[in-house]
Amino acid sequence: MNASEKVALITGGARGIGQTIALTLAAQGWSIAICYRKSEKAAQETLALIQEKGARGLAVQCDVSDHQAAAELVRQVEQAYSRIDALINCAGPYHRVNLFEETIAGWHEMFDHNLHPVFYLSRLVAPGMKARQWGRIINFSMANAEQLVGQPFVTAYYLAKVGVLVLTRTLAKMLAPDGITVNVISPGFIDSGSLPAAELAKMVKNIPAGYIGSTHDVAGIISFLLTDDARYINGANIPVSGGWGV
Ligand SMILES: NC(=O)c1ccc[n+]([C@@H]2O[C@H](COP(=O)([O-])OP(=O)(O)OC[C@H]3O[C@@H](n4cnc5c(N)ncnc54)[C@H](OP(=O)(O)O)[C@@H]3O)[C@@H](O)[C@H]2O)c1
Repeated sequence: MNASEKVALITGGARGIGQTIALTLAAQGWSIAICYRKSEKAAQETLALIQEKGARGLAVQCDVSDHQAAAELVRQVEQAYSRIDALINCAGPYHRVNLFEETIAGWHEMFDHNLHPVFYLSRLVAPGMKARQWGRIINFSMANAEQLVGQPFVTAYYLAKVGVLVLTRTLAKMLAPDGITVNVISPGFIDSGSLPAAELAKMVKNIPAGYIGSTHDVAGIISFLLTDDARYINGANIPVSGGWGV
């Protein structure tokens, strides 16, 4: 199938890594749907950039931590485009807080936004992908999640990202018979605009490659995972971290 007939839904696609993925796939001819929670202006700007590339674009306000809103998002995208071939679960906010200063709301928020939407959305897009015997689901963890180390300052976020790894492998096993791959990208430190430049600069000394990654480092590997050449890569965890956290 031509890329031009394919549809990608990218959560958190208005900003950061998700935005670069949206623009990269749009340039390859994919039809793009992005969702955002609060970044209306960034979403409209991204939509305009998608359309400048000659691709079809749709921007939907949706908090994917709400399972009913997630269902409505999938309904709207399928109504507009009749299909979803790739789901890229990019939305995944993060906060740093000492575990004993974490609030109950903050604790739940990390799981609600990083882990649960992967379940909500994957189960909704899977039937269409199965019917077409082709699909791609890409999730986001973090580069050191495989190490299962104690994390006094990013405890809930880290646990949610470990959960994403296990959920990804589970989905990969269940969907592989239907031509669907489910993989996880694990960034290290990527300059996505979500962390202050000064904070990122402090991390450079810990990164074997000696520099912070760009959002294009992530988008490139996703482009490949969406091709037929990547059909046998399933359940993989791919660190994109310049050697950090592995
Ligand atoms: N950047 C890094 O160095 C790094 C490192 C490790 C892992 N990651 C993971 O990589 C992914 C992308 O990172 P990023 O830095 O590009 O992210 P980001 O800039 O923090 O967030 C991208 C977008 O996600 C949206 N979002 C968050 N929660 C949402 C929800 N419940 N529903 C809908 N949209 C939601 C936000 O939209 P609004 O602005 O509208 O709220 C935001 O624009 C995330 O899963 C992140 O955890 C990133």
